[in-house]
Amino acid sequence: RNETSCTIVIFGATGDLAKRKLFPSIYNLFAKGELGPNFAVIGAARRNWSHETLRENVKKSLDESKTEINEDHLDDFLAHFHYISLDVTSKESYQNLNRLINDLEGEFNIPCNRMFYLAMAPQFFGPIASYLKSEGLTNETGWNRLMIEKPFGHDLPSARQLNNEIREAFREDEIYRIDHYLGKEMVQNIEVIRFANAIFEPLWNNRHISNIQITSSETLGVEERGGYYDKSGALRDMVQNHMLQMVALLAMEPPIRLTTEEIRSEKIKALRALRPVSGDQVDEYFVRGQYGPGNVKGNEVPGYRSEPNVDPDSNTETFVAGKLLIDNFRWAGVPFYIRTGKRMAEKSTKIAIQFKEMPMNLYYKTDEDVHPNLLVIHIQPEEGISLILNGEKLDLSGQTTPVKLDYAHTSTDKLNTPEAYEKLLNDAIKGDATNFTHWDEVALSWKYVDEIFNAWQQKKAAQFPNYEAGSLGPKESEHLLAQDGFHWWPLD
Ligand code: BG6
Repeated sequence: RNETSCTIVIFGATGDLAKRKLFPSIYNLFAKGELGPNFAVIGAARRNWSHETLRENVKKSLDESKTEINEDHLDDFLAHFHYISLDVTSKESYQNLNRLINDLEGEFNIPCNRMFYLAMAPQFFGPIASYLKSEGLTNETGWNRLMIEKPFGHDLPSARQLNNEIREAFREDEIYRIDHYLGKEMVQNIEVIRFANAIFEPLWNNRHISNIQITSSETLGVEERGGYYDKSGALRDMVQNHMLQMVALLAMEPPIRLTTEEIRSEKIKALRALRPVSGDQVDEYFVRGQYGPGNVKGNEVPGYRSEPNVDPDSNTETFVAGKLLIDNFRWAGVPFYIRTGKRMAEKSTKIAIQFKEMPMNLYYKTDEDVHPNLLVIHIQPEEGISLILNGEKLDLSGQTTPVKLDYAHTSTDKLNTPEAYEKLLNDAIKGDATNFTHWDEVALSWKYVDEIFNAWQQKKAAQFPNYEAGSLGPKESEHLLAQDGFHWWPLD
């Protein structure tokens, strides 16, 4: 069943994701020999393209994404791509698609292994899955897998309904729900840092850690996605998936084995231990923000309410900060602070693990002399870790000064780390679902987030905008930590 020769069908092949991420990732897998000679890629979408148009677009996407191409095998690579024009709501379309798959399986000598990648608007996920089954596209002797993009519903009931629809056609172990953060090198490295280093794991608990801070800030606004984003907001766009996945990886117990099932089951347990935030507590634990006009990295930018396809009175949050508590033996009493937002000062994803003070610090004279030990995991744009220790100040004062041990590099240009999508595609082709989200994780995350969302809905409109573009978010996000005696560690 781990046979990797397969046909990849991309629904939405004329779209942005295929162009920016999928085609370059497939090329890189091909160039590294991961795909073997027996594979085909079918681009499916509404437009009336020919095979040739698709191939030209694939080539263009490789050029635009600055993928390193080996001209010697480019034509061979492109020959694996085929296009079919398809109406996702018509039975006949699926019958035509099935014929094309069968033909290509013959031509390229591919076993009946089929990967269906849904890079489409979410309202089509359910219907596509059900047609794939009813028209016999999943009815073959090899494996069938469904890769599905976000958003997976917009709350727990809609996610459950979507899940029921796709489960009619695919088993849980055939469904690969993408959270592209799980494809990032340093997100995958959280487990390695924790479970392969004797100097961290013994300290990884409430006896030694005072708090954990996870920041994912962006400088971009909503760009051309105002229509989607205005109905979503930062809580559902970023917290429900990426931020809670990072919390789960940081908080989970060591798995007994490095298998998909064991790792996921530990993550699920961590998410089950999240303390729910009830409606009357929401202001104590969560802060929402929306950007007004401002200056981001030297450019004047408009406020969120003036962005295209955004309601001029929009009450949608573009920033969230929160304090999460995990009620289990390891984490009782340790706040996990998260914050994420658009149009902030930096594009940066970082995790700071702050260790507790020494019981008796002999060097303590003034507050400035004590710097807690920090482990910082840099996820992007740099990748790596830094450890902040205390050393002696070299000025005869006998005081201490923070010393930074740094192991970080710029992700895109220095070391050639594969793109998240390349890793995720490769995993799915190999049948490894570890870095995809299980339904239970999705459901628990929605349950947590829904309560906060509902509490906000019931309150009177927020006082938006409440942070300037190019800043670090509303000042209330500082208060969230200050009330516990902490502050956010800087992003640089
Ligand atoms: C996506 C969100 O899931 O993640 C976007 O829908 C956001 O709004 C993006 O910009 C951030 O991803 P990254 O990899 O740039 O941090």
